[in-house]
Amino acid sequence: MINVQRHLFKLDTTNTSYIFHVDESGHLEHVYYGHRIELADGDWDALRDKHPAAHDCPSYSEDFPEIKMENLALEVSTEGKGDYRVPMVQAEYNGGYTTLDFVYQHSQITKGKQAEAGKAQAYGSADQCTTLTVTLKDTVLDISLTLTYVTFDASDVILRSAAITNKTEHHLYVHKLDSLQLDLEDDRWDLVTFDGAWGREKQAHRRRLAPGTHVNESRSGVSSADHNPLVFLARPEATQRHGEVIGCNLIFSGNHKEEAEVSPFGKTRLLTGVNSSLLRWKLAAGATLASPEAVLTWSGEGFNGASDHFARFVNDHIIRGTWKWRERPVQINTWEAFRFDFDEGKLLNLARHAASLGVELFVLDDGWFASRNDDTSSLGDWYANPQKIPSGLASLSTRIHAMGMMFGLWVEPEMVNRQSQLYLKHPDWVLALPRRVPAVQRHQYILDLTRDDVRSYLYDTLSRLLKDAEVNYVKWDMNRLFSDLYTENEQVKHMGEFSWRYVDGLYDLVGKLRAAFPNVLFEGCSSGGQRYDLGMLCCFDQIWTSDNTDARSRLAIQEGTSYGYPPSTMDCHVSAVPNNQTLRTTPLESRFNVAAFGTLGYELDLTALGREEREAIAAQIEFYKTLRSTFQYGTFHRQQDGNVVQWDVQSQDKETIIVLWYLKENQANYAQNDILLVPEADERAVYDVFPRQQYLAPTMLDGHTARTIHAKRESLPMECEHYTVSGGVLKYAGIKLHGRCLKDYDAQTRIMSDDGSRMYVVKKRG
Ligand code: DGJ
Repeated sequence: MINVQRHLFKLDTTNTSYIFHVDESGHLEHVYYGHRIELADGDWDALRDKHPAAHDCPSYSEDFPEIKMENLALEVSTEGKGDYRVPMVQAEYNGGYTTLDFVYQHSQITKGKQAEAGKAQAYGSADQCTTLTVTLKDTVLDISLTLTYVTFDASDVILRSAAITNKTEHHLYVHKLDSLQLDLEDDRWDLVTFDGAWGREKQAHRRRLAPGTHVNESRSGVSSADHNPLVFLARPEATQRHGEVIGCNLIFSGNHKEEAEVSPFGKTRLLTGVNSSLLRWKLAAGATLASPEAVLTWSGEGFNGASDHFARFVNDHIIRGTWKWRERPVQINTWEAFRFDFDEGKLLNLARHAASLGVELFVLDDGWFASRNDDTSSLGDWYANPQKIPSGLASLSTRIHAMGMMFGLWVEPEMVNRQSQLYLKHPDWVLALPRRVPAVQRHQYILDLTRDDVRSYLYDTLSRLLKDAEVNYVKWDMNRLFSDLYTENEQVKHMGEFSWRYVDGLYDLVGKLRAAFPNVLFEGCSSGGQRYDLGMLCCFDQIWTSDNTDARSRLAIQEGTSYGYPPSTMDCHVSAVPNNQTLRTTPLESRFNVAAFGTLGYELDLTALGREEREAIAAQIEFYKTLRSTFQYGTFHRQQDGNVVQWDVQSQDKETIIVLWYLKENQANYAQNDILLVPEADERAVYDVFPRQQYLAPTMLDGHTARTIHAKRESLPMECEHYTVSGGVLKYAGIKLHGRCLKDYDAQTRIMSDDGSRMYVVKKRG
């Protein structure tokens, strides 16, 4: 809900309020963001900034001696009027002038929010959200700035964006147009970012803000595994469950920059937007440039609270089309099973095994097209390799369908190898600067998606492919970072526009394909999680979380991802051991126990498994399917992170809670009781608690028991541990679990190796 009263703007969601006002000099001053408040007479005098002196800083003008831009909490900031903090908007006009000063003109409130076709934008109906646009104008030049705020009530999210319009007679260059500025009164904040690299995406890092600016950015053309656009400001005492947390994310898949600055006067400024370091946008007379949208939330219930808001927002207002709120199929993916080494016989054999275990989607990954037998050739030539798949894709797809599974296909449309027919025909479609040797990654080059002709070629080729082979799922991969930016596209007026226009080209292309194939499930991928962001989620229903499928590594990767993205978007697979990336051997059941907290898949050669492992997988899939809506669409919470990692996910009707209890390193004679605490339990209810029955491979054990059992070559029975317990005990005291040592093994011993884990099902009694 949005209220405007005498230049006071109050934006409410169910649990939060955001307040700003137009001050006497015409600037938008931020007043409050936090727990929802209702204003009574007299409150305004308490709330308003009394503008204490900021000595040795310029006043805005002779007329407003008390207004020092440097010490205002502002909704938008520019260069040149005495605010020396990092600005939200920067533009250059008249060959080098950069001073701009936007003051209030008018505002408008409308119900609902639409997403424009081919754009990565959030959307919501009239009963879900309200939109406020505030128009400002430079005090001298005919340049206007529109700030848009959309309140999404149920998810407690405020969407922000900005658009600059050049109404002068000359072009100008936009150097910076952030999507959001949030100025907070004080500096008692920690900044949390999600950083890493390929194979170790989204590792959470937390540090105390100090005077100066912390930058979280990507410059590689993708939102990146290095620094995700998702950031949080949290009170130093905030935990997963308690305390004040502000979350911010950007709906954009390219170069981004988040800046958190503490000013000399102890105010904190948070900015997010397209990365300005590389931006130079020529804005013609009469033209408008609109920023991507940014997403803001506040929670008084710690990081889990903020993640709940984001998860709900993504499922309600980002994901769109047929797969919105729809359960995602269990897949088998050929990549880690076969890499490039397969033929039709191998594929069909894998498919038969998969179907018999309950798999629902068969995904043919890299290696199926042209003469692709390794990563040196064929990207760009999207037809089936006649040696590997002689009967053709359509026939393969028909046979997969006949087994009762959907058929999925991997493509990497943005890329081309030099060894390809496409490159021979269109060498000029590749990003490469004349006279410079272009950088190369995985033998591949990037096609210029800013060009209409390149996009229409890709659209036609991919449409034909999806139609002819009756494809139900697409894995859209992208395996290199950008370099050698160059284009012959005359619409790009300055190379500083290129990266942004590329991302817009990608959204346009995928948007058109999705419109033509509305039932296809689209999955995004970029060497795993190089492009796991809200922009991608407007185009892709789910994303491959990481190429690292090691269960232990996945704990941190999935946990980091869960701060901003719901489990339904996180594709997570069980793979073979020793793991491809870490060489670690983890129990099959732990690999499942971790992968189940997302969209489940298998990525290993099922035909090479023994009987017991196949039975275990069949049981895993059956279990997953019975609780799939909870795993994918339940409320996911992080509870404990140390040697023991504990997550839980609660069903939407709150009847069931599934808990992951994962032990990284088992210690002999371990020090503390293992306690199962379930903070989500309802104190008024009584629950049954039992571990999922899982397969305990004797090879996991050592010592006498292991040897005895190993000799029998059998699985161990799972411990019998069942409790009927009140919600209060679960919530506050926890269950003291049976011991996990092997010395005195009995039917209740919880046999655990390193990376041992359990999944507990906590169910309300009828
Ligand atoms: C990178 C992806 O992340 C993998 O899952 C796989 O699809 C390979 N590319 C194939 O080249």
